Amino acid sequence: MNCFKLDSLRPVRLRCEYLENPLGLDPERTPRPRLSWRLESDEPGQRQTAYRIRVCCDKRTVWDTGAVRSDDTLHIPYAGRYPLRNGALYAWRVRVRDARGRWSAWSGEARWGTRPVWKAKWIGEQSDTPWSERESRPSPCLRKESSLRRPIRRAVAHVSALGLCEFFINGARVGDQVLAPEWTDYRARVQFQSYDVTALLRKGGNAFGLMLAAGWYAGRLGLHSWAVGGGERGFYGRWPRGLAQIMVTYQDGSEEFIGTDESWRYTLDGPIRGADLLDGETYDARRELAGWTDSGFDDSAWRPVETCLGPQLVPQANEPIRITERLRPTAITSPKPGVFIIDFGQNLTGWISLALRADSGTCVRLRHGEILDESGALYVENLRSARQTDTYICGGGGSERYEPRFTYHGFRYVEVTGLASAPDPAQIEACAVNSDAAEVGTFECSDPLLNRIMSAIRWTHRGNLHGIPTDCPQRDERLGWMGDIQVFAQTAIFGMDMAAFFTKWLLDVRDAQSGDGRFPDLAPFPGYAHPSFYGAPAWADAGVLVPWRQWVNYADRELLQTHFDSARRWVDRVWADNPEGLWRRNPGRAYGDWLNGDTLIMDGWPIKGGAVPIDVFATAFLAESTKRVAQMAAILGRRREATHYRLRAGAIRKAFQRAFVSPSGRVRGDTQAGYALALHFGLMPKRLEKAAQGHLTRTIRRYGGRFSTGIQSTIRLLMEVTRAGRSDLAYAMVQQKTPPSLGYMVEHGGTTIWERWDGWIAGRGPYAPGMNSFNHYALGAIGEWFYRVIGGLNPDEGSPGWKHFFVRPRPGGDLTWARVVYHSIRGVIRSEWRIEDQRLTLEVDVPSNTSATVQLPGRRPVRLGPGSHVIRAQTK
Ligand code: BGC
Repeated sequence: MNCFKLDSLRPVRLRCEYLENPLGLDPERTPRPRLSWRLESDEPGQRQTAYRIRVCCDKRTVWDTGAVRSDDTLHIPYAGRYPLRNGALYAWRVRVRDARGRWSAWSGEARWGTRPVWKAKWIGEQSDTPWSERESRPSPCLRKESSLRRPIRRAVAHVSALGLCEFFINGARVGDQVLAPEWTDYRARVQFQSYDVTALLRKGGNAFGLMLAAGWYAGRLGLHSWAVGGGERGFYGRWPRGLAQIMVTYQDGSEEFIGTDESWRYTLDGPIRGADLLDGETYDARRELAGWTDSGFDDSAWRPVETCLGPQLVPQANEPIRITERLRPTAITSPKPGVFIIDFGQNLTGWISLALRADSGTCVRLRHGEILDESGALYVENLRSARQTDTYICGGGGSERYEPRFTYHGFRYVEVTGLASAPDPAQIEACAVNSDAAEVGTFECSDPLLNRIMSAIRWTHRGNLHGIPTDCPQRDERLGWMGDIQVFAQTAIFGMDMAAFFTKWLLDVRDAQSGDGRFPDLAPFPGYAHPSFYGAPAWADAGVLVPWRQWVNYADRELLQTHFDSARRWVDRVWADNPEGLWRRNPGRAYGDWLNGDTLIMDGWPIKGGAVPIDVFATAFLAESTKRVAQMAAILGRRREATHYRLRAGAIRKAFQRAFVSPSGRVRGDTQAGYALALHFGLMPKRLEKAAQGHLTRTIRRYGGRFSTGIQSTIRLLMEVTRAGRSDLAYAMVQQKTPPSLGYMVEHGGTTIWERWDGWIAGRGPYAPGMNSFNHYALGAIGEWFYRVIGGLNPDEGSPGWKHFFVRPRPGGDLTWARVVYHSIRGVIRSEWRIEDQRLTLEVDVPSNTSATVQLPGRRPVRLGPGSHVIRAQTK
């Protein structure tokens, strides 16, 4: 009889440096890659009491930990006897022992590979070809044929570009990533991607093709010309370059490599006539080069490539950008003859894929926009100078499909012109394109409005993840604005697995730090340390506060270790300028509580009273960052520094109180934001906390129960109103449908979060187009409140990586149930409550090897171990 019995405890989801089977780790940068897994169990209360890891390389065991008594499941560093070799493949498994001493079977096999010793050269077109700052250029196609002498056991390709690239072997596209190798400061380093290409190669003749485009390296960048100097294009370089190195291991164990070098040839006569991230792509199907990535193609008319030097190559540390979802049109309209508008019913980031039939030479234009004007025509003013237009010139002779590859757009609507009749909706898809980090959180509740808000937050989050966290995906900006992600970080972490993504981006942040310790306001920073655009309160502070979030949620000590010095240098810089503890000198561009109530243009809305004074704002952030630096030092065992920064944080707090807090607990400016920040960052004297909470609710009443806050203080206000025991008020603000509110956005066509509270107002229309995006996540930081207050999930900062956590739901509003599920780094956490007949039932799932403290309103806390639990309470 075939009878399986599942282990009581199973290690699953094996990860190396946060990634599933990374193939290009650098033995010098990562000599001890960290291994992690999650535990699964059907037995309540199960936990891991020991583990055993075995690592093999070429069938030899290079590390066997033996039984290690430990409940660790995260970040276990490789400590094999032999240092990692270049160009090798390591296979690993783990088994675990449960609470009753029973060992699980070995897990499935996971792998990591190491990068080769680089021999390939950077190649590209000859730089004698004309170059213009105005126009994007045709995409070079580069190729080479090589013969492999013996049967192949294994082959790994490592590919990179200064610009964007797609790589082909024997007619097949390698990998499913897009927009690779993503944005870094190319002067410092560039990422490469690694692929197992064994199945694509064959003994005998093989053909290799690379297609390049300008991308972030040589194309247009947001704010580029006016913010950082320079022209329109070619900031890091004018001509895109590519590099590929394929490491082949034959069946007999011998090795060979094929790489880009001067023997490759290129043409500029391919189908992509121009490609730019902001402006779009132009594709001429008549110029397709049939068979150019296959053997036997005649490239005798192609030119030999130019070789050049490149920056440091580093393996991609985050999940690649991919097409993560496909959507069908919900409507197609025609506001004018010959103009067709496709509506996807959802604002998103990516491009469309469409199939059509038309005569050769028919030119089809696809313009992308977020909203329509009153006449039903596409509204593009808010895109500023970004053209977001793809042009397709048909090859003719049957059905053809077009999908751009070297651009992306922020859109809900696509305007199609150039076709004689409306396109067939069955032949069109919108492709959502973003960094493919796993979605780990779901929130649902009995109020459809809140569910729609959460859906908008989710789409905004995904739509702004493209190797870096951007402010927006549509206009000529799309930059890694640090203040936005600083406030959105915890919401982002609840929604998606941000661990690898932040690991990558925080390196961009460090690359951009100025010699005198200032973090930029945006990273990567496409210029050099700039007198402005550097060191703004709450923006530059992301360099401290995002690593802190990474620690709290993922227990990543190594990241703190690598980042600590940068974080310390930043707060030292501000302190050196402001030794009296008030941040008044050198606050950079001092955006303050950006887009606060004072910026709203609505009938009857107060002109003044929302904006917190900039020195109050800045000093609050200085105190917070300094406190976090002190905590980081303590975690890292740097005791002297821990004391030093703790004392300094105390001094800043005191200075804040002396300068800004009155004896009756008023904070200078008397704004919602001022109280929210002072309370949230623990800056009020204990004895005045209650008074400040009173002032906070008073300033909310002054606005008729509405927000006068901007992007930095809205979530902090909601958390503090809740902590003050007024979750009723917080619910009322969150469930509001009048502006300023997220409820208003989703009730008025918003399927993503708007940049401004009043991005569009009935009767008034859109805000002035100079700065009005409909896809900006910063105000969506309210999502954190959904998870932490409605669902009740709160990390315990003293027990990082959700080892111990709090479940403190605060049912309220008219909600009758809510459910949050969060796939934490240690396993799945669920908090689900329901109110029936004045009885509250809470169900909580606690993952193996973790514990939770659960507290219902007005009840004593209860400590729970792993497993599923049900708790009941009377609500009245
Ligand atoms: C961006 C914001 C950013 C800000 C700096 C804007 O143009 O879109 O999200 O944080 O500039 O204040």
